Amino acid sequence: MRMRSSLERTATMASSFAAHRLHMSGRGNLLKRLKNVDAFLRRRVGTSAVPVREEAPRKDEAGEKDGRLSFYAVQAQGQEQAERSVLINCPPKTSEKKIIKVLSRHGDIKKYFSYESYGVYAVVEFATRESVASLLEAASIPNNGHECMVPYKSRLLTLRSLGPAEGSGQQSSQQNHPQTTIPINELIHRLSQEESIDRQITCLTDAYQLTEENSRLRFLVCSLLKDIAAAYFPECSIKPFGSSVNGFGKLGCDLDMFLDLDGISGRNLKTAKSALALEYQMKRANSERAATQSILSVIGECVDQFGPGCVGVQKILNARCPLVRFAHQPSGFQCDLTANNRVAMKSSELLYLYGQLDPRVRQLVFTIRCWARAHGVTSNIPGAWITNFSVTVMVLFFLQGRSPPIIPTLDHLRDLAGAADRSVIEGNDCTFVSDFDKIRLQSNTETLERLLCEFFDFYATFAFSKKSINIRKGKEQNKPEAAPLHIQNPFETALNISKNVNGTQLERFVALCQESSWLLQQRDTHTPKGGGTPTPWGLATLLLPSQVAGVKSRKKRKREPASERIKSLLESLKAKNQLKT
Ligand code: GTP
Ligand code: MG
Repeated sequence: MRMRSSLERTATMASSFAAHRLHMSGRGNLLKRLKNVDAFLRRRVGTSAVPVREEAPRKDEAGEKDGRLSFYAVQAQGQEQAERSVLINCPPKTSEKKIIKVLSRHGDIKKYFSYESYGVYAVVEFATRESVASLLEAASIPNNGHECMVPYKSRLLTLRSLGPAEGSGQQSSQQNHPQTTIPINELIHRLSQEESIDRQITCLTDAYQLTEENSRLRFLVCSLLKDIAAAYFPECSIKPFGSSVNGFGKLGCDLDMFLDLDGISGRNLKTAKSALALEYQMKRANSERAATQSILSVIGECVDQFGPGCVGVQKILNARCPLVRFAHQPSGFQCDLTANNRVAMKSSELLYLYGQLDPRVRQLVFTIRCWARAHGVTSNIPGAWITNFSVTVMVLFFLQGRSPPIIPTLDHLRDLAGAADRSVIEGNDCTFVSDFDKIRLQSNTETLERLLCEFFDFYATFAFSKKSINIRKGKEQNKPEAAPLHIQNPFETALNISKNVNGTQLERFVALCQESSWLLQQRDTHTPKGGGTPTPWGLATLLLPSQVAGVKSRKKRKREPASERIKSLLESLKAKNQLKT
C-alpha cells in the first residue's frame, strides 16, 4: 500500500488565529497551556462519563520539538481528530484538487491525504463535525441493481465519478509516501550507506516507524468501529493500544483496539440529590469475563454482518483475553478488538512513557524489535516465540541496569505518582507518574552504538536459568518458577509475560545475541566501507540471515574464522539480491 500526496489545509480562520496566538504567547506559555490541558484531559479520559469534547492540543500546532504530550493527550487528540474525519474510496485518475474542491463544499478541510490499497483512499479531516454530518447527508445509498445491501451508513464512503474518466498522468505529479515498510534488502542497502552505527539506527527507525498519516488512519479505523459499537453502547469509546500508540510501532503492525465502556459505569459516580434515585435495570452476567465475552460476541457479529470493509471476522472468545479478530480492507490493518483490557492499556502507556524519556530508548527498542523480527525471534503467529512486548521489556530492563541508569525503575515511577495518577485495576496497582517534568534522569551519555553492542553482550551471558527480568525493581530477581524465560508482568506481578517461550526459542535468542555481539566486535563488519557499491556493515550485517539457524548444529560446528563468516554473510546477501532482480 502506498500513501499518496499529503496536503495540509490549515488555513481556516480559527486555526490561523490559534497559530497566531501560539506564536504571540511564546514557548514557555505554550508549554504551560499544553500541560494544563493535558492534566485536565488526564482527569477526564477513562474515568468520566462525558466524552471528551474539547479539542486537544495538536503537536504540530505546538511547533515544539521537546513538547511531549502525555499518553492521554495523544489518545484524546487522535480520537478527536478521527471523529471529524471520513474515509473515502476515490475514483482512479481523478485529481486531488478536484476531490478537495467537491468535499470542501461541506466545510473547511484541516488535513487531507490519500494512499493506495485496493484503489485510492483518502482520509479527510474536516475542521468541524458539522461538516461530516453535511457530507453524510449528501451521500446516497448505492444502487447496485439486483444486489441487496445492508442499509448501514458509516463514514466509509465512495466517491463515484459520474462523468468520463480523466486522463492518466493527473496523479503523476503527486508525492508518494510509503505506508508499508520497504523490503529488507533495500533497508540493508540504505543502512550500508550510513557512516556510523548511530546513524544506521536512526535511519532504520525513520524508515520503518509509523508515519503521522498511518497513526491517524489507525485512530480513524477505531472511530469507525466505535460507530458500530455505539449502536448498543452510545457512550463507549474504542481506543488503540499496543504498538499503534506505544511509540514502537512498525509500519504494517496490527491494530490492537480496546472497547472502553467506562464512560457508562462512570455515571455511577453521580451522587443522589434526593431521597429517591433512579437506576437502570440491567441483565446480570455470571462474571466479568462472561460479560466481556457476550459484548464482544454481539459486536463481533455486527462487525461481521454490517461493518463495511471488515472481512474475515473471527471471534476468539475463549482466549485468556477474549477478542474479535478481522481485517479492515480499506486500511489494510489486521485488527484485534478486545474489551475490559485496561491492564494492557496501562502497559502501552508505560512503554510510551519510557520511550519518551530519552530518544535512545525508542531507537534502541525499535532496532531490537526489528532485529528480532528479521531473525524470527518474534512472529505474528502465536506460539512459543518471544513476543514484541517481552522483547521491549527486556530492552527496558537492560537500560535500567546501565551505569548510570538511562531510565528509572517502575517502582520509582510509582513513587513519583500524584493522586490523579492512581490506578488500581482488578486489584493490581498500576500507578505510575505521567508528568514528564517530575522524572529526573541521570546523565548517561552512552552512544546508541555502545548500547546496541552491550545489549547483545548482556543477554548473551544472562543467567536465564536462575534469574527473572523485573522492570519494577530494575534488578534481576530469583526465578519464582521453572519456565525457561521469566519476565515479570509489570502490573500483574505474579504473572510471567513470557510463559509461552520454550527452551529452544530461548536458546535461539541467546545464540543470536552471541552472534550479533560477536559480529559487532569484528573489524570487517564494524567499520563503514568506502568505494562504490556499499557493502553491508554494522547494523546492516546484523539484519542479514543468521548463521545460527539451528542451535544444535551450531553447538557442533566449530567457529569459522571471522573473514569466512563475513564472506558467507555477504554471499547470502548477494544471492538474495540476485533473486530479487
Ligand atoms: P506488535 O507485535 O507490533 O503487535 O506489538 P504490540 O506491542 O502491539 O504487541 P501485541 O499486539 O502482542 O500486544 C498488544 C499489547 O498488549 C502490548 O503492547 C501490551 O501492552 C499488551 N500485552 C501483550 N502481551 C502481553 C502479556 O503477555 N501480558 C500483558 N500484561 N500484556 C501484554
Ligand atoms: Mg499489536
